[in-house]
Amino acid sequence: MPRSPVGRETDRIDGRLKVTGAAEYSGDYRAPRLAHAHLVTSTIARGKVTGFDTAAAFASPGVLRVHTAPDNPLRLYETTGQAAAFAENYIPLKSEAVHFHGQAIAMVVAETPEQARDAAALVTATYDVQQPRTSVTDEPRVPAGPAISGAPSSLTVLAPGVETIDAALAASDVVVEAEFRQNVQHHAAMEPHAVLADWEGDDRVTVHAGAQIPAAYALGMAQRLGIPAPNVRLITKHVGGGFGARVVLWSDAPLAAAAARELGRPVRLVLTREQMFTLTGHRSHLTQSVRLGASRDGVLNAVSHRSVAERPTTMSFTMTPAHSMSDALYRTPNLHVDAQLAVLDIPGSRAMRGPNEAPGGFALETAMDELAIATGVDPVELRLRNYATTSPSTNLPWSSKHLDECYRVGAERFGWSGRSATPRSRVDGQWLYGTGMATAIYPAARREGFAVEVQLRDDDTAVVSTGASDLGTGGRTVVAISGADALGIPMKRITPKIGDTYLPPGAPAVGSSNTHATVPLVVDAARNVIAELKRVAVTENGSPWQGADASDLRYERGILHGLGRSMTFGRLLAAVGSPGITMRSSPMGAPIPGYVHHSFGAHFCEVRVNRFTGEARVTRFTTVADVGRVINAKAARSQLVGGVIFGIGHALLEENHLELATGRLANSTLADYLVPVHADIPDIDIHMLDRPDPLLTGPLGDGSEDVGTQSLGARGLGEIGTVGSAAAVGNAVHNATGIRVHDTPITPDKLFEHL
Ligand code: MOS
Repeated sequence: MPRSPVGRETDRIDGRLKVTGAAEYSGDYRAPRLAHAHLVTSTIARGKVTGFDTAAAFASPGVLRVHTAPDNPLRLYETTGQAAAFAENYIPLKSEAVHFHGQAIAMVVAETPEQARDAAALVTATYDVQQPRTSVTDEPRVPAGPAISGAPSSLTVLAPGVETIDAALAASDVVVEAEFRQNVQHHAAMEPHAVLADWEGDDRVTVHAGAQIPAAYALGMAQRLGIPAPNVRLITKHVGGGFGARVVLWSDAPLAAAAARELGRPVRLVLTREQMFTLTGHRSHLTQSVRLGASRDGVLNAVSHRSVAERPTTMSFTMTPAHSMSDALYRTPNLHVDAQLAVLDIPGSRAMRGPNEAPGGFALETAMDELAIATGVDPVELRLRNYATTSPSTNLPWSSKHLDECYRVGAERFGWSGRSATPRSRVDGQWLYGTGMATAIYPAARREGFAVEVQLRDDDTAVVSTGASDLGTGGRTVVAISGADALGIPMKRITPKIGDTYLPPGAPAVGSSNTHATVPLVVDAARNVIAELKRVAVTENGSPWQGADASDLRYERGILHGLGRSMTFGRLLAAVGSPGITMRSSPMGAPIPGYVHHSFGAHFCEVRVNRFTGEARVTRFTTVADVGRVINAKAARSQLVGGVIFGIGHALLEENHLELATGRLANSTLADYLVPVHADIPDIDIHMLDRPDPLLTGPLGDGSEDVGTQSLGARGLGEIGTVGSAAAVGNAVHNATGIRVHDTPITPDKLFEHL
């Protein structure tokens, strides 16, 4: 009798393929007569290309085409409607206009990747240069759109009789005010963006590319190429990291596909690592201002959080990158959040892991640490004193919230009680050491309009299909686990099929929502296919139950029982001559109304700071997360570890310097843009509470069905590790040194001069 795999430590089913190099990523696919493209990018941020010299490139070995705007025959068009929200708002290689430094201005197609690259290096351009707008302090500004949770970008809640947030702050016993500046950060996914486009005729194309929202990506491609949406088949089987960089349809895939159509051969385009820094998005640079007003014992009276981030001119839709935890995290009678965007001539930016909450979390949770010091209240106790049981912006309760338990369990695991609250009070040789903590919160949005199919086969295996992509998170394994649980059969009898837009439309791998969007669909499709199995059993020739009533049958663990007989589904299907039966999930409604949905967590961190060099090193880290039902304990832990590493990078290492005069992202290589390596990361202690959230994802039906439902109640965990973890590091740096750094990353130079 199979135990349900839900909640166990399950190896990812594609793990062996990946570590042996057998998994095919987008750049690994081949096609007969494959040609290779390479992009040439702009060296100005705003203006026009006035001319190209392409003679040397044309004369270079193996070159088939050199495409330059505006005189090239590539057929590319505008995106509209929903697809426009997931694409840039200019048509690549269509006009002479340059919108940002590092934009594609020409493309070489050649017989080999090396020939294309070498010829691309020979293309030169002349420009008519204009002064770019590059700083978030620049005008004009526009209000940001709503946050991913649906929360508005500007919101004021005031207690009765209070006129303004400033008045609420002025009336508070203790006020903490802080300004934060953060430079551009990058996703730095391991797999470079790569695309292979292969046409049948000139109106049907198969595209291999990494995409987080395959359906939107394919729709955008169809619009860009001017062909019907069903004529684009997007295959995205294995992806080496998304983090938001594969949400948008950037310029690379449309250009490769258009070049392939024009050439009449398949074309592959792989971006260089340097090109990824300007062509595939980044986290906005921003300024934030947080003001907290509280009583002498630390009870909040007012929270104000304002920010200014980027609105690149090429993006019609961007994130609201700051306050989206300040409008939800703490109980406060007076609340003001406001997000503005500065319209800038810089590379396109959109989402990056915890797009609103990671920057906002650093600011809010740093300010909370300052409030703890100002009031003399322990940081954990301060957060418990301001614990919200309803959302401060909507007054709705949470569907499930155990953040208080995260604080208590985390403090216990970490050994928080032994802490010295006095900054710079612990020294070990040349190292000052200290501890800090912070809170994590991330919205759990369930999106609708997606589907899963479950097929029962006559060999007693089942296929679970959905067009979602697995970014490396373990999504494919989640599909197999929930399928095995729903059907009550071992995982080895489940074949998950994902990553292809010719499958049923899969839930997006964004906003930490893929698991809780997909699992209920798997359960529902399994329930439907079990009902269909019973229908087949009572109607088809060859079935021992032909003519019986379906309600006499019971499905359990892959076997149909009833009227004194039992048969596996495979035997029954074979007996009636059916190779397999397939059913799709029913449309899934919104979650039960009247609740807000978030995941939560508490981070605890120890750092050591070298007294002589100012180098900060994270030496211990504990995260306790409240993420609903845990489907795969192993992959879930990996997601949280990865998120925390993102936060450590944010706190200590990561920034790209945007040169204000030129609009150039100055350190756009992995040699100059520092990300954490193994030696920077200690063993990270992760604990998940494993408390299901059925108000978000189920229960389905009336509970009398024969389908397994243990995988319901999950909530997102891809981004929660990233939120607040940078603040925990910064707060620990302060505890170690007495130095408060508001402008990340906390590099040695910022500490050195004060040590
Ligand atoms: Mo995410 S930043 O929704 O990929």
